[in-house]
This record gives sequence, C-alpha cells and structure tokens, in this order.
Amino acid sequence: MKEVVDRWSSRRAFILAVTGAAVGLGNIWRFPYVAGENGGALFFLLYVFFVLAMGLPVMIAEIMIGRAGRRPPIQALAALAQERGRSAKWSWVAGFGLLTVFLVLSFYSVVSGWSIEYLSSTVQGKFAGASAENISHALDVFLANPWLVVLNHSLFMLLTMAVVAKGVSSGLERLNNWLMPLLYLLLVVLVIYAATTPGFGEALKWLFSPKFEELTPLVVVNALGHAFFTLAIGACALMAYGAYMPEDQSLVKAVVIVAVLDVLVAVLSGVAIFSVVFSHHLDPTSGPGLMFVALPIAFSAMPFGIPLLGAFFLLLLFATWTSSINLAEPMVASISTGRLSRPVAALIVGLCVWAAGLLPALSFSTLANVRPIAGMTFFDLVTSVPPDIFLPLGGLMIAWFAANVLDPEKAAGALGVGTSGFWLWLHITRYVAIPLVVLVLLSALVPKLI
Ligand code: PHE
Repeated sequence: MKEVVDRWSSRRAFILAVTGAAVGLGNIWRFPYVAGENGGALFFLLYVFFVLAMGLPVMIAEIMIGRAGRRPPIQALAALAQERGRSAKWSWVAGFGLLTVFLVLSFYSVVSGWSIEYLSSTVQGKFAGASAENISHALDVFLANPWLVVLNHSLFMLLTMAVVAKGVSSGLERLNNWLMPLLYLLLVVLVIYAATTPGFGEALKWLFSPKFEELTPLVVVNALGHAFFTLAIGACALMAYGAYMPEDQSLVKAVVIVAVLDVLVAVLSGVAIFSVVFSHHLDPTSGPGLMFVALPIAFSAMPFGIPLLGAFFLLLLFATWTSSINLAEPMVASISTGRLSRPVAALIVGLCVWAAGLLPALSFSTLANVRPIAGMTFFDLVTSVPPDIFLPLGGLMIAWFAANVLDPEKAAGALGVGTSGFWLWLHITRYVAIPLVVLVLLSALVPKLI
C-alpha cells in the first residue's frame, strides 16, 4: 500500500487531535473511580510516575512509527519491518492493537451513551433540587433499563462513525479548538466550588497523601493500565494519527503538552469529584457510577448549577467523541485500504463494535447475572482487562519495535530532535520503559513474588 498523503492542516491541529484522543472518559470518569477503588493517593502517584517513565517514551514510539510508516498501523508495521529485512508478521502487533481498540470502544460507547442520557435528564430538569439519594437511585434505575442504555449506546456509535466515515483529518478541528478549553474552564470552576465544600480538605488528602503500606501488585498494574489508557497509547490508535502528522512538527513538544494536559484534567476532576464524595459521605470505592452520581450532586448545589451541569455533560460528550473517533480510526483505516471505501469500512466496524457493546450495555440489566470469569460481568471484564493488561502489553511491543526493529535513521527522522535527543529517547525506552512494563506485567502474573 502506498503512503498516505493526508496531513493535519497545521501543527496545532495535530496537538488538538492527540489531546482530543487522550482527554476523555479516562480522565473524568475512569480516573476517579479507579483511584477510588485503589486507595487514592498511592494510585495517583504511581499513575503520574508511569506517565513520565513509560507513558511518554511509548507515546513517542507509537507516533514515531505512524509518522515513519505513513500508512495505517497494520500496513505501516509490515512495511517498516520488511524494509529492515524483518518479518511482515510484526503487523500482528497492530492486529492486537485493533482487537484492543475494538474492545475498548465497545464499552467506551456504552459509557458515553450514559452521558447522552444524563445530558437529556439535565435538560429535562430531573436533577433540579434532587437529593443525593435520589440522584444515586436515578443511576440504578437508568442502568436497569436495557432499552434506554442500548438506545444511547447506539446514538453514540452513530455519532462516532459519522465522523470516521468522512476521514478524521477533515473532521472536528474547529470544534476541538474551542470546546476542549471550555471543558477545562468548567472543571476549574467546579474545583473552585469544591474548595468551598466541607469535603475539600479530605479530598486533597485522599488524592495527594499516599499510604505506602497499601502498595499491592494490583494497585501497580491498575495504575500502569490507567496511564496507558488515558494517554491513548498501546493500541496503535495514536499510531494511526501519527501517519497524518505534518513534516515540520516537533513530536516531543506535542507529546509533552498532551501528557501535561491529560494529567491536569484528571487532577481537576479527581479533586472535584472526591470533594463531593467526602462532603456527602458517598463511598469512594463505589465503582463506575461514581462520576454520574457525584457531578449532579455537586452542580445542583451550585448557583446556576443545572445549566452548568448540562454544559458539562455536553462538553464531556464532545471529549469522549474525539476519543472514540481515535479508537475507531485505526480499525477503519486498516480495512479501508483496498476495495472497501471508507464509509463502508466505517459501517462494518460500527456495526461490529455496536454488537459487541451490547454485552457491557446489558451487564446491569438483562445480563447482570452472567459472570463469565471470576464473578465479573461483561462490563467489569471489558473495562478492566483490555485497559489494564492489553494496553501495556501492546505498548511494550510497540516500544520494542520502535527501539529495535525500526530503522534508526528513519526513527530519528520521525522524532526530529537530532541525534542526541534520539539517543536519549532510545536509552530511556530500552532501559527504563520496556523493563518497567515487563516488571509490572509480571507482577500481575506472580503477585506473591513482589
Ligand atoms: N484516552 C482516552 C480517554 O482517556 C481513551 C482511549 C484509550 C483512546 C485508548 C484511544 C486509545 O478517554
């Protein structure tokens, strides 16, 4: 397959697209509840450490491969490996990535559908004056309604595929430009409000004062998985975006900006949500519903709270939309290279992911008692195994490929920071990022050894 000629229209557009992919449910929905389940501060500390020590080098590796290959992930890995006389089977790494994005998108669309429902409930005034108990109860009632959950999941899949069918580089640039900053602004407002609530001090302590005696292999694995999930790495999704990266752009600068923003959004939403949790004596370990209970409680107590809550869900929806477009892109780009046109490929991918998404969608109602492994529902399984195991595993293989298979000259060219910068990245990747990922993954397999 020939190299793609499409490029993001500017350097800024590339950064916006990657930020759009990174910032999403991972920061605002997943971070608080997974941190809640893993003790708070220690999880946060490990997550930040993993973003820096492994996330950044792997993110660079992934975009670098896309940029050097200038093709969709499967084709890029095969071509780059063959150029170096290595097996085209390296493309299986991208195949594994596609499996991961498929599974992630299946639940991502379901949970984004919850946001659609919450937006509509807010607009209908359902949260105005509601008590904390009523708000908690409303989530249970909604999740127990299979039709409504599936309807919202379907709507969200349609929204995603409509953009991917047209081609992402011409997609949401302009909207991205001003909607994402608005979301950050609203989060800041929420944190300022949170600072006036009684639970604020406890929230800060919970998030920033680690109890090292609570360290377990599971916390470490979850923190690594979350770092990869929130940075959108390990599944070849950013690799697909790297293929459209302009020639004259600094990869390192883009990656650092995105990582800083990504952590910042998680911190803001963590502080806001845990302030509500502690002010209202909610349970921080209550799981995936945490954000959907905490936010309506927080906003409904604020001046102009209900319109702001509506705005928040709208902006959150936009953030999840840009992430899900990134999740769909590698699948659609990889299969729409031959006879299949992009819209048809998007239709096929959309239908398959939609069907797979029915399993997590129905996990709170029709399939609540179906627990295939270790007492977990489909929702529990698909929201933990692909992010926590598949992404680090995929990231490991991507980093290995970039550091050991990819032509060093091509790699250095794609990185674009000169030989000493390339040397630094190569050594951090080889001797820090890769061994650490291996160690963490092994610790998941043999918890007793650690
Ligand atoms: N980073 C996205 C989020 O935080 C999710 C994502 C994961 C996107 C993997 C692409 C690839 O919501």
